[in-house]
Amino acid sequence: MEQTNIEKIVKAIKGRSIFLIGMMGCGKSQTGLKLAELLKYKYIDLDSLIEKLAKKSITQIFNDEGEDNFRELEKNCLKETIKIPSLVISTGGGIVTKMENWGILRQGIIVWIDLDKNIAIERLKNEIANRPLLQGKNLNDLYMNIFQSREKLYSKADLRIQVKKENIEQVAKKIINAIDKEIFN
Ligand code: S3P
Repeated sequence: MEQTNIEKIVKAIKGRSIFLIGMMGCGKSQTGLKLAELLKYKYIDLDSLIEKLAKKSITQIFNDEGEDNFRELEKNCLKETIKIPSLVISTGGGIVTKMENWGILRQGIIVWIDLDKNIAIERLKNEIANRPLLQGKNLNDLYMNIFQSREKLYSKADLRIQVKKENIEQVAKKIINAIDKEIFN
């Protein structure tokens, strides 16, 4: 997509932020960074922001304070992001589980990165270290249980981007095309 077209889209969305949602391992962080670069938006990774404010890792927060407290921190950090316009925000996979979060997410454009499950599970095999919800014997079962409990919630996004083997840049461009289609068609 040409730069002038991207600028047209950015103008049309009038500073609305873009929230990336989806399961762990679907590529929200890397895609978000690329998307922000293409749109000339600022970028926030919500998990990194939580870690910075809490001064400990996500795993430490889960271990010391439990998931409910983590969700409170997550909600409070999400609330902060809406004060700033023109952001791409990569959220943690569980952001959709708290109903209060939807009021905030709805102020932006919500994009679900729906990565093929087998690819996601394969990728997560090497990335479970800082993912407390994936600690256990059977990654496949853990992933599928979480996915099934959230699928309906993810599908409430404004846009669903199905991803298989596309690279980060291709996914970011798919998102821009989908926004374009949504606005101008
Ligand atoms: C979680 C996903 C993680 C992180 C936390 C909980 C979830 O973020 O917020 O471990 O509930 O799915 P990623 O989706 O970036 O892995």
